[in-house]
Amino acid sequence: MPRPVRSIAVVGGFVGLSVIAFGCGPRQPTPPPGLDEVQLAGWQAYVDLDCAACHGEAREGRRSGPALTGLARHWTADRLVSYLTDPDSMVKAVPRLALKAEKYAIGMPSASGKSPGYGKKARAEKLRVLAEYLLVDAGKPGG
Ligand code: HEC
Repeated sequence: MPRPVRSIAVVGGFVGLSVIAFGCGPRQPTPPPGLDEVQLAGWQAYVDLDCAACHGEAREGRRSGPALTGLARHWTADRLVSYLTDPDSMVKAVPRLALKAEKYAIGMPSASGKSPGYGKKARAEKLRVLAEYLLVDAGKPGG
């Protein structure tokens, strides 16, 4: 009776594959707790624009980019939007950023002069909510 045996194997194989597909697929990032609606949209922009590649999933910093915490000390939402749109000019104008930029082989996209800033990838309102998210530390504005 070869036929039932074969279909059991096929079903078994399918179940096995599904477990692999759902169990080991790419992990969905989860937002930090305590964000309001605007900040949550900003967190989503951070994920969509892949800022985490250089700054880390929780903005903790990586070898390719500094930690993005305590930013409210240095930034307003408006200035963050200008920076993201054209990091190059801001790095030239602000010594603190120029010093930071020197520590990294590749600067904020566009600081290398080879790739555009985020102005072309994201509409202004997306950069604005992103800025609001960046100014929050552990769920509290300005921490
Ligand atoms: C290729 C790596 C890379 C990516 C991708 C990247 N950054 Fe950066 N970022 C840097 C580096 C390096 C610096 C240090 C200063 C500089 O080079 O401009 C920096 C600096 C910053 C600063 C200033 C930090 C401070 O101390 O004031 C902010 C804010 C920032 N990045 C936000 C973002 C956001 C938001 C995104 C996604 C839209 C992003 N970055 C994507 C590498 C990156």
